[in-house]
Amino acid sequence: MERSMDSSWVLYRRLWQYVRPYRGAFALAMLGYVIFASGQPMMMGALKYFVDGLTNPARARLVVPALGEVDTLYLVPAALMLVALWQGIGSFLGAYSMSKVSVGIIHDLRAALFAHGLRLPTAYYDSQDSGRIISRLTFDVTMTTGAVTEAVRVVVREGLTVVSLFSYLLWSNWKLTLVLAVLLPVLGAMMRSAGRKLRSASRRLQETMGRITAIATEAVLAQRVIKAFGGEQRELQRFARANDEDFQRQLRLARIGARNGSTTQLVTFVAIGSLLWLVLWLRGDASAGELVAYVTAAGLLPKPIRQLTEVNSRIARGLAGAESIFSLLDVPPEHDEGSFAPERARGEIAYEGVRFRYPNAQDWALDGLDLRIEPGSVVALVGPSGSGKSTMAQLLLRFYDPTEGCIRLDGVPLPQWRLAALRRQIAYVGQQVVLFDATVAENIAYGAGERAVSREEIVAAARAAHALEFIERLPQGFDTPIGENGALLSGGQRQRLAIARALLKDAPVLVLDEATSALDNESERAVQAALETLMQGRTTLVIAHRLTTVERADRIVVMERGRIVESGTHAQLLAAGGRYAQLYREDLVA
Ligand SMILES: Nc1ncnc2c1ncn2[C@@H]1O[C@H](COP(=O)(O)OP(=O)(O)OP(=O)(O)O)[C@@H](O)[C@H]1O
Ligand SMILES: [Mg+2]
Repeated sequence: MERSMDSSWVLYRRLWQYVRPYRGAFALAMLGYVIFASGQPMMMGALKYFVDGLTNPARARLVVPALGEVDTLYLVPAALMLVALWQGIGSFLGAYSMSKVSVGIIHDLRAALFAHGLRLPTAYYDSQDSGRIISRLTFDVTMTTGAVTEAVRVVVREGLTVVSLFSYLLWSNWKLTLVLAVLLPVLGAMMRSAGRKLRSASRRLQETMGRITAIATEAVLAQRVIKAFGGEQRELQRFARANDEDFQRQLRLARIGARNGSTTQLVTFVAIGSLLWLVLWLRGDASAGELVAYVTAAGLLPKPIRQLTEVNSRIARGLAGAESIFSLLDVPPEHDEGSFAPERARGEIAYEGVRFRYPNAQDWALDGLDLRIEPGSVVALVGPSGSGKSTMAQLLLRFYDPTEGCIRLDGVPLPQWRLAALRRQIAYVGQQVVLFDATVAENIAYGAGERAVSREEIVAAARAAHALEFIERLPQGFDTPIGENGALLSGGQRQRLAIARALLKDAPVLVLDEATSALDNESERAVQAALETLMQGRTTLVIAHRLTTVERADRIVVMERGRIVESGTHAQLLAAGGRYAQLYREDLVA
């Protein structure tokens, strides 16, 4: 994918923002690369001196006043070790400091992504593949940072190495070097075409790996469904297809890799051969040492040059990743421009002409809704599946904003509330119970938010939610871990934990979506009793399919296709003999 210079530049600038806090380490890394590269000509110098000393021993002898005549050739190995040490220091400094930069950037980008993720609107999560969002945080961040810091390393360290080696070559024999300069790119191109095939093969391998992971993950998560529906054969086939493809691609990669090995070997020897021939031809009056050092330096050149020519694809990969990360960071967070933030609301709720359509949906989920709920009263929402009951509750928490109309709490339109303050007023038990992979106590205490809670409060909430007796029978009581999303609990138990969590919140508004649907009759009566205590002095919106649980509500609102079709007390609605009476009769029979 081609990217314009401008947009690349914008990305670089943005990435640099993340490097800034680590610019000390970044500078150290640069210093390390310079030290490393400067070692190359020193190495060549030592080599030249050594060979010249071998061929012409007199030149290596030195008269030192106190010691007499010394054969300095014996000092060369020591000098080489010193150079190696020098380069080692440079290499370490470069590698370690650069890792510090990249690990730091990964850390900061993750933190930024996670924090931003928490502030994203619900609609964004509806529209995105959750795996894709998570892989930005895990995979994209590491890949991008790796690619970018690696690119910097190659450009600076290998670039300097090439410059220093090439300067040495020029200085040593410029004529020969100019001929070499023409020849090198040809050899480089030969190596590169082999490398490109290898890269595209390994990229295709990543795809199949991704597919294998996806299929396996799904099978693990859906294992009960697979068993219940006898889907084993289908899963096996699906997996086998991906696995077989992976097998083929692995083989292809191995084949290209093996062929590459031989090609590289061949190219290398052709290169060395041509070089030796050139040396014979253009050696002039160079000494043996000069020539050996020259050939060695020329032999060291192709590797860094190849890395430099490949740096493009690295940069492209890094920029693509950076683009995807920044595009997530650029998704606007939930609207939170309001400032109204009282400690405790009275709990008066009003829906005024509310219409709402989910993003990308065709139909109105709520189609002109007017409803006023007095503080402290209990309103039950009933109606067929898909009539918009849960949607109504979600709008109250501002998971979504109405497309038309207005919702008020205490007479103040919801957008004028500070988001956190608004949500603080509402204890919400959703239709799908969501628990954390933590202990029972921690899950209940989650309801208290930032406030510190005592064990007594947690126990009291559990008792009120009729969860105490089952919690006490758990192996470690309140300190029992409940597994991923409460996998170690029954449906009804999970629901009671969710209710206890809401109880602990002690908010003026209570929203219960199907809160008692997964309970047996006895527990349901118990929870019902608990809820009735809880509802006192609170505005309650309760959504239930079982009409027996809503009989005692101050008002029952019957919804159908996003509209209110009836409302009144149980007795009034029965007497009216309308939709509610019909639903009620069906429910009693069921
Ligand atoms: N996230 C969403 N994106 C798009 N459409 C949605 C979304 N959630 C719900 N809907 C649609 O909105 C309509 C109302 O859904 P809602 O969940 O409010 O119904 P409900 O009355 O709570 O039903 P149930 O009794 O089955 O829980 C349905 O037609 C549904 O398909
Ligand atoms: Mg619902």
